[in-house]
Amino acid sequence: MGDLGESARSVWSGRAAAYAESFAAVCAYPIGDLLDAVGAGPGVHLLDVGTGSGNVAAEACARGARVTAVDADPGMVQLTAKAVPSAEVGVAELPVLPFADDAFDVVTANFVLDHVGRPRCSLAELGRVARPGGRIAVTVWAVPGGAGRALLGRAIEAAGVRHDGHRPVLASEDDFPRTEQGLVGLMRDAGISDPSCRTITWDHHVSAEEWWHGAASGVGFIGHLVAAQTPETRAEIKRHFDLLSAEFIGPDGRLVLPHRALLAMGNAGA
Ligand SMILES: C[S@@+](CC[C@H](N)C(=O)[O-])C[C@H]1O[C@@H](n2cnc3c(N)ncnc32)[C@H](O)[C@@H]1O
Repeated sequence: MGDLGESARSVWSGRAAAYAESFAAVCAYPIGDLLDAVGAGPGVHLLDVGTGSGNVAAEACARGARVTAVDADPGMVQLTAKAVPSAEVGVAELPVLPFADDAFDVVTANFVLDHVGRPRCSLAELGRVARPGGRIAVTVWAVPGGAGRALLGRAIEAAGVRHDGHRPVLASEDDFPRTEQGLVGLMRDAGISDPSCRTITWDHHVSAEEWWHGAASGVGFIGHLVAAQTPETRAEIKRHFDLLSAEFIGPDGRLVLPHRALLAMGNAGA
């Protein structure tokens, strides 16, 4: 199976602003740990792949790193170029990056391997463009995930719509267990040395309106699925979302949504 190419691009196409206003916030939680893992700071040339609306790039610049940021979606690239003017920003799509071997000191990819058709080749590509021994750090959503992450999927299923999860279904030879061990194994298979992985858990505090907005605006695989439904079915999903949301309402009336992710790091091979 090749990379998802067209289908993955269509999932993100035209959604950059909606992503920035919705799910970007939940993806931002591990950024501090991700940048610590690669030692982002002055004198370090960092490549952020699948940069989305540029939150990793912005924080890396704030730490004094020289930053190059790329994304497969031109809309995301435009948004990041505007939001992070000190970064060099461009379009590039895993599993092939338009950079020479050893071009960067360190490489990050925050919740990007979840969206590619060939995660092993994509990780190897991150390793190829990092100098030998350069740090690589990535995050993916853990399976099982946090109860908060399951909320939209439960609403979709309750409305009678088949739901395969938040990410594309991969060929078995391309897929990997979304566990600490599974991600370490993928890193090793991709030629990343000394891989390690830990689980990060957090509660995402967000209003029900904001959380629904991401899905209703077609953001990500889950939003793409919601947006593809008839208005009647969408209304039914929303009705179940409102009912199920009650389980997560915190003292301030906002949702408290538990999330679980895997943060893996290692060194580019020689
Ligand atoms: C969940 S978002 C994460 C964005 C960003 N890293 C962040 O932390 O907010 C996934 C991003 O990966 C990008 N993406 C998906 N497939 C890609 C690929 N094959 N190569 C590069 N970027 C890709 C999408 O366009 C989207 O911006």
